[in-house]
Amino acid sequence: MRGTHGWWRTAVVYQVYIRSFCDSDGDGLGDVDGIRGRLGYLRDLGVDALWVNPWYPSPQADGGYDVADYRDIGPTFGTLEAAKALIAEAHALGLRVLLDVVPNHTSVAHAWFREALASPPGSTARDRYVFRPGRGAGEAPNDWRSVFGGPAWREVPGADGEPGEWYLHLFAPEQPDLNWRNPEVTAEMLDVLRFWFDLGVDGFRIDVAHGLVKHEDLPDLGRDDEVLMGGPGDEDHPHWDRPEVHEIFRGWRALADAYDPPRVFVAEAWVPTSDRLAQYLRPDELHSAFDFTFIRAPWRAAALREAIERSLSAHARVGAPVTWTLSNHDVVRHATRLGRLDADPATALTALGGPTDLARGRRRARAAALLLLALPGAVYLYQGEELGLEEVEDLPDALRQDPVFVRSGGAVAGRDGCRVPLPWTRSGPSLGFGPSRGWLPQPTSWSGRSVEAQEADPDSMLHLYRRAIRLRQAHMTGLDSELQWLELGDDVLAFRTTPGVTLVLNTSAAAVPLPPGDLLLASGVVDGAALPPDTAAWLTSP
Ligand code: NOJ
Repeated sequence: MRGTHGWWRTAVVYQVYIRSFCDSDGDGLGDVDGIRGRLGYLRDLGVDALWVNPWYPSPQADGGYDVADYRDIGPTFGTLEAAKALIAEAHALGLRVLLDVVPNHTSVAHAWFREALASPPGSTARDRYVFRPGRGAGEAPNDWRSVFGGPAWREVPGADGEPGEWYLHLFAPEQPDLNWRNPEVTAEMLDVLRFWFDLGVDGFRIDVAHGLVKHEDLPDLGRDDEVLMGGPGDEDHPHWDRPEVHEIFRGWRALADAYDPPRVFVAEAWVPTSDRLAQYLRPDELHSAFDFTFIRAPWRAAALREAIERSLSAHARVGAPVTWTLSNHDVVRHATRLGRLDADPATALTALGGPTDLARGRRRARAAALLLLALPGAVYLYQGEELGLEEVEDLPDALRQDPVFVRSGGAVAGRDGCRVPLPWTRSGPSLGFGPSRGWLPQPTSWSGRSVEAQEADPDSMLHLYRRAIRLRQAHMTGLDSELQWLELGDDVLAFRTTPGVTLVLNTSAAAVPLPPGDLLLASGVVDGAALPPDTAAWLTSP
């Protein structure tokens, strides 16, 4: 393992969406042993760590983000023994392991929630969640909306035919929100972290980190809002990004720092500005948080530069590295997004359909990989992006599992299209994902995008990622957060990293001349000193 101090500041982390990574036992869902069997692949890719999406016992109402027991492994995924073996085997290969903690809500199947339902209003058991009486017959306590659509409240039956209380669920009704004003909740979640840290886990990605604390009075929002964040000027949003969340994370940081080596956190916090995000990254709070500004930037050099500069400067003010990413299990895969014709990039993040030039999307995705991996800070890759996988937009409705699809009555297709099982081999019932068919079907064209096919092609996306990650490790360890911008015209993004390389990205429709320096790597064919459209190159810095 490279130096332990601050490894996370410049790490390349690979997101393992466990349900779709590798299935060892043929039940159609990926599992812990499947990951164990592919650790060599991750080592060869050159990443520093893996982040595993929730693998806990769960009814899977939201792909495992409905946790029934935070201290165990779901039987479909494996056993605690297998998880311990995975941690040890990953460490032996120099890979760190991050898990996903889901502190905003539990599953309805969690022992606490079952106890709450069996207990009367006003009981200690109910106080671990957010239960309230309705405003009138059949009327929810306030106007909050669930991120997955519909009201954020569900009524439970009262005793003897009396009206029952309602409980809050900012996500699916199967995901009741915890009451973070209750000290028992704070203590329990710290203990959950301790449990996994003691098993050697290196850190956690924090689900919905900006949502834990709700306004004490639960006031109406006053608008029909189902988004994952407030807008600028929403400083006093009743349930997103409230100031009280920061105290929770100070406690988490103190716990992580008490371990040797210290454990780390990366937050999922959809807040409207980089400055608000930086608040989570003050020295006594979280280590890192995904930067969702970059992911929404249009494919234009000037817009990309503006997003990068904004994030770098906001993070620099609190001394934190930026955590860059282009895809995850909640957004449309970027090979597709970057090929959308005339789509607003923010809308393209989740909207399906619309005219798409996939060849262009893949060309840009190759260039984007070189941009991403040259940026100072940490980088999170989403499984399959190294294969250039596209969003699968034509899944049969009957197979879709995302609660977004179910709750919108099919009006919103949801996120299953970026969660299709990985293709490992050219043939087989699930292209090597497992011994039988996977939980979602893969396009037949993915035979040619499989790991096996790409291993055999030196120009493949997989080889590009491997080379870029290796070069990043060789030339850019200890990346500084400073960039030196080169002015090569409005349609060319170019910077020097310290120490490191010169990155040049051409987002115009015509070839542009390359600046001086030896070519280290290019995302496409570079003819002489001309960089073609939608292509990026790394050069030695003079
Ligand atoms: C964010 C997770 O990434 C997403 O998949 C999940 O549906 C919500 N949080 C709710 O836990």
